[in-house]
Amino acid sequence: MSNKTFYITTPIYYPSGNPHIGHCYTTVACDSIARYKRMQGYDVMFLTGTDEHGQKIEEKASEKGVTPQQYVDDIVKIFKNLWSYMNISYDRYIRTTDDYHVEAVQKIFKNLYDKGYIYKGEYKGKYCTPCESFWTESQLDENGCCPECHREVKEAREEAYFLKMSPFAERIEKLLLETDFLRPKTRAQELVNNFIKPGLEDLCVSRTTFKWGIPVTFDEKHVVYVWIDALNNYITALGYENSAHSDYEKFWPADVHMVAKDIMRFHAIIWPAILMALDLPLPKHLAVHGWITFNGQKMSKSLGNVVDPFVLGERYGADSIRYHIMREMALGSDSSFSNKIMIDRINSDLANDLGNLVSRTVAMVIKYFDGTLPADRETDDLDNELISMAENLRTSVDRYVDETQLNNALAEIFKVISRANKYIDETAPWVLAKDENKKARLATVLYNLLESIRISTTLLSCFMPTTMPKVWEQIGAEENLITYGNAGKFGVLPANVTVHKGEVLFPRLDIDKETEELNAILLKNSPKSEDEDKANLAPISETIKIDDFGKVDLRVAEVKSCEKVPKAKKLLCLQLDDGFGTRQVVSGIAKWYAPEDLIGKKVIVVANLAPAKLCGVESNGMIVAADVGEDARVIFVDKDIPNGSKLR
Ligand code: ME8
Repeated sequence: MSNKTFYITTPIYYPSGNPHIGHCYTTVACDSIARYKRMQGYDVMFLTGTDEHGQKIEEKASEKGVTPQQYVDDIVKIFKNLWSYMNISYDRYIRTTDDYHVEAVQKIFKNLYDKGYIYKGEYKGKYCTPCESFWTESQLDENGCCPECHREVKEAREEAYFLKMSPFAERIEKLLLETDFLRPKTRAQELVNNFIKPGLEDLCVSRTTFKWGIPVTFDEKHVVYVWIDALNNYITALGYENSAHSDYEKFWPADVHMVAKDIMRFHAIIWPAILMALDLPLPKHLAVHGWITFNGQKMSKSLGNVVDPFVLGERYGADSIRYHIMREMALGSDSSFSNKIMIDRINSDLANDLGNLVSRTVAMVIKYFDGTLPADRETDDLDNELISMAENLRTSVDRYVDETQLNNALAEIFKVISRANKYIDETAPWVLAKDENKKARLATVLYNLLESIRISTTLLSCFMPTTMPKVWEQIGAEENLITYGNAGKFGVLPANVTVHKGEVLFPRLDIDKETEELNAILLKNSPKSEDEDKANLAPISETIKIDDFGKVDLRVAEVKSCEKVPKAKKLLCLQLDDGFGTRQVVSGIAKWYAPEDLIGKKVIVVANLAPAKLCGVESNGMIVAADVGEDARVIFVDKDIPNGSKLR
């Protein structure tokens, strides 16, 4: 094995529900990078796993009447099935209930305590008696009430352990602003402004209100806060503070942690602080991608809008799904999932461009040369552009894979595939075939096509590992020729290569019919039935008179700017144009919307609500949103309704 190492991780997922296409994105992205690095000769460690402790899991298990361990065991099986179905080549799977991880986290917690970074203090917060839950000021809803049941909360105190954060603030700020740790870098300033500039608060790292967690060895009524437990998986899985594995020296620091934006703060601030406190090197890169959304909403189980990857895979094959999600998502921005766009893309890129290129080329070699090319050649200047694009492809894919921009890597590969299709039109092999004197020229054209296919599919195989070997079989590329080294060279296939007719790689789809059928299937498989939905609806409130309604002044307003409220996890501060001027409103929707999701949109605001201060920030009105399960969805209105329009 080579001495160049590469360590890449996905987040460890909560097994609190079945995995969906959002989980697939990160895992497939990491898998593609891991495969690429292996092909480049790196000794790769690709880690994924599940984050199995915490109150939510404890509650879900008790709802189902099983132990938390039984509950997570069942869901972990589904995660592992999905990864095998999607051809995920992870090297290690960590479960935070694994004994070695539990033992290592206990040691890490104790070390931090012995070093003085963890101390015992008092957690002052708000307590909701009916829910038996502690909340911080910033977690409360817009009215300062319990974010779960919206009833009144009272002041409460509880003994807890805290991690000192302030000693690391300066180093973390430098890490974010002055290094290329965070990708995309554009998010660094937002993190610094929201969390570091207002003063990094010490983090409460133990809980006493539930049991399903890792016990603090020296104070057993406390369990370790689930994020401290979870983040450390990246080192315990390598053998840090345990003897189950022994790869820490070899692989740490990680080359890439990949996560979505909702957990960026934990990875960009808290994780570096823990590592600094432990005196360990920091990971090299944190790649943050956006969400796969459905109708503008984050895909999530409680919204009932999850797309089941098994259903899609069964219909189109795991590789097509892998391709679609990789191609669709640009690092840093959200990507809206649509059945129609997926079907279109599978048709145009995979069936028409790639599938057609392979089948046409192979068919022509069979038709004109009985399947085996003669060795005579006749070159033409017309060949140069295709050859140079194919030869240079590896360099650009290398760069994009290193920068975690997989959509761009795929776009480069498909440029060569398109160029090859255009080359067929330019060289018109069917015309050459009619002329006996053009046999050498015809053979050269077909050889160049086979070589372009070999190079592009060698690189593509890291993204689509199941289908590409079928292409190699068809174009007569022996397995030993499929190497990273050969992907940078033109002229590798033997001059008298023999091709083989094979199955259709990507059957062409009837877009309208397919979209309709798929919509119907996904609707049927949607995790919530209508009856369940009805059971979850809040009852209709007491009747009011029309005059009462008339007292509520609802207006259309446009979001001009929006930012997170420092120290308030749930709050966003929006500047609205309400037709009369600028109005500042604070809204508890940060869990579901990033500021950039709202800017430019038109919303409904309760314009005559008495001003109130939320976490010290003045709010003049309230944004209208719908409760959907545990989530909130802002009601957006048409762009052509003027700002200030009154609702009636
Ligand atoms: O946060 N679009 O676990 P989690 C894109 N256990 N990616 C999505 C997504 C979507 N709609 N939904 C989920 C946790 N993801 C913690 C992590 S790590 C030490 C602990 C992906 O199950 C994305 O990678 O909620 C996101 O970061 C992760 O799933 C969150 O998974």
